Amino acid sequence: MSDATTAPKTAPKTYAVKSFGCQMNVYDGDRMGELMAAQGLTQVDPKDADLVVLNTCHIRERATEKVYSDIGRLRKDAGKQGRTPMIAVAGCVAQAEGAEIVRRAKVDVVVGPQAYHNLPDLVAKAARGEAALDTDMPVDLKFGHLPARRRVPPSAFLTVQEGCDKFCTYCVVPYTRGGEVSRSWGQIVDEAKALVDAGARELTLLGQNVNAWTDGARGLHDLIAALDAIPGLARIRYTTSHPNDMTQGLIDAHAQVEKLMPFLHLPVQAGSDRILKAMNRSHSRDSYRRILDRVRAARPDIALSGDFIVGFPGETEADFRETLSLVDAVGYAQAYSFKYSPRPGTPAATMGDQVPEDVMDDRLQRLQAALNRDQAAFNAATVGRTCQVLMERAGKLPGQLIGKSPWLQSVHLVSDAAIGDLVEVTLAEAGANSMLGQRSL
Ligand code: SAH
Ligand code: SF4
Ligand code: F3S
Repeated sequence: MSDATTAPKTAPKTYAVKSFGCQMNVYDGDRMGELMAAQGLTQVDPKDADLVVLNTCHIRERATEKVYSDIGRLRKDAGKQGRTPMIAVAGCVAQAEGAEIVRRAKVDVVVGPQAYHNLPDLVAKAARGEAALDTDMPVDLKFGHLPARRRVPPSAFLTVQEGCDKFCTYCVVPYTRGGEVSRSWGQIVDEAKALVDAGARELTLLGQNVNAWTDGARGLHDLIAALDAIPGLARIRYTTSHPNDMTQGLIDAHAQVEKLMPFLHLPVQAGSDRILKAMNRSHSRDSYRRILDRVRAARPDIALSGDFIVGFPGETEADFRETLSLVDAVGYAQAYSFKYSPRPGTPAATMGDQVPEDVMDDRLQRLQAALNRDQAAFNAATVGRTCQVLMERAGKLPGQLIGKSPWLQSVHLVSDAAIGDLVEVTLAEAGANSMLGQRSL
């Protein structure tokens, strides 16, 4: 890099990490924080930090513009205090835009999602006034270069798989995160034990295609069985799965492994086979439904979740109605839905027949009404059930705690339990987005 960034700065003493996007970014953000803490830096609020790491997402909309406006705001606020913070852009926008960010925003460090173990070196370089950009995707994964886990919350993330080979025509992930790579069995089991020692009671295994995880002949269900044997670990979850990697072994795990929670996030994106084909999803409406039938046969009370895109290029009203009818047929406990957003460099961005914004708005509203209706119905159907709730944080009211049910519902409870406790609770009332619990006597 010849267009070096700024004049030398003093080495930062404090840091803040702001993560956007998916849970994998949250995990990465935490790990970058641990890297900086291991260098002796203290974590502070972003507005006071000497080093601010913006851990960015590129999945939809004006993600890039948002990063530039965030940088502007940070500089302006710091300028009022007479400070010039060091700014590092990490994550998927860093990978996609690389040197363009350095050129346009004169940030100090740019580091991609597969290179962030080099953050301390890059920060040191930037402090010397040297260009500090690393968007390599090394074969040797970063995980072996990260410090040990410290204190973690009761529900902790553990990345087991990265990247994607599926190339859905709308999606940037295969370009920003690279191809599918699995972490090794031993490394994951060690980290899981370390997380439990550091306070985790629940682990959510993460991957852009988590159910594609493999080590030799072993699949995700084998890994889940191994984690099931860790004393002190109470719950296991995993996300996000692709329909094509939903093996019978993994489906059977939902019947067999007690610690595996009855929840499955299985994005479908659309209900029309014509659109699924144009999206390169490589599953059909019918094959998706058959998978869910098998999952429900294994675990009848499972809560299903999904992702949907409305307004993919060429989507007609008739196509969209097939999405609505799929939603009606499945009955999701919760789901995410988005307006299609053309991503630079993806095949769909240059397809004809882009759907007008007002049509997308209308479809999103109708889809969300259907999903909200189903979520309310799911929550109402759980009223009266008794279940374990993992207490995760304090609520707003005195003595109130907020935790998660096995079906990933937020449960509010007034109790003298501690954060990290698993408490037996009766679900007494269903709200719009959460449940009211009563401690069982
Ligand atoms: N690997 C996962 C997650 C991908 S990103 C999967 O396949 O499901 C999370 C969600 O973002 C996707 O499921 C999709 O619904 C949405 N998404 C991805 N690209 C998008 C785009 N260009 N426009 C709108 N939504 C998008
Ligand atoms: Fe993107 Fe498709 Fe890969 Fe999911 S499976 S990350 S939507 S390309
Ligand atoms: Fe966003 Fe990258 Fe995750 S684009 S959704 S942060 S994989």
